[in-house]
Amino acid sequence: MIMNAVIVYYSMSGNSKLVAEAIAKRIGADTLELVPVKQYPDTGFKKYFWGGKSAIMGAKPALQPYSFNADKYDTVIIGSPVWASSFAPPLRTFIEEQREELRRMRKAAFVCFMGSGDQKALAKLTKALDADSLAAELALVEPKNKSGEAAKKIDDFCRRLTENEA
Ligand SMILES: Cc1cc2nc3c(=O)[nH]c(=O)nc-3n(C[C@H](O)[C@H](O)[C@H](O)COP(=O)(O)O)c2cc1C
Repeated sequence: MIMNAVIVYYSMSGNSKLVAEAIAKRIGADTLELVPVKQYPDTGFKKYFWGGKSAIMGAKPALQPYSFNADKYDTVIIGSPVWASSFAPPLRTFIEEQREELRRMRKAAFVCFMGSGDQKALAKLTKALDADSLAAELALVEPKNKSGEAAKKIDDFCRRLTENEA
């Protein structure tokens, strides 16, 4: 069976975007970038304050209109930066809005982070997806700055995804 995958991601500063695009290219998947109606501040003190608070509170910010034709896909890969040891709130909105459509799909996830909270974020994402486990998962430290290291890990992730294709 050929996998039909979509990568649904949010990225504030380009790391998760870079990874989403690398995976898409590698396995021939579609991508869907989530954009909140009200953008999070991305500079200074506010950057960590508002995003962190929103993640801790489990906020579900409204998203700009997106098109997601779940029938086209058997696999969804969720991509997010780690925010306050959790995943970024736009993904929470998406998962909530598409809960029924996601139920039958195979699920995988990746997170980008600075130094800690990656495993917690992946666990929270797994739970939010109503999944017992993920088909593949990946955590990368600032891949925009460490692209050599990221490339190998992305490769392993894609291999696991295609090998675990049941
Ligand atoms: C609001 C906010 C909270 C963050 N919290 C964490 C954290 O708990 N742990 C961590 O390692 N990095 C944290 N970071 C850093 C990002 O996870 C990291 O820079 C990531 O690579 C950004 O991905 P992006 O470029 O796709 O937005 C945080 C960044 C922001 C903006």
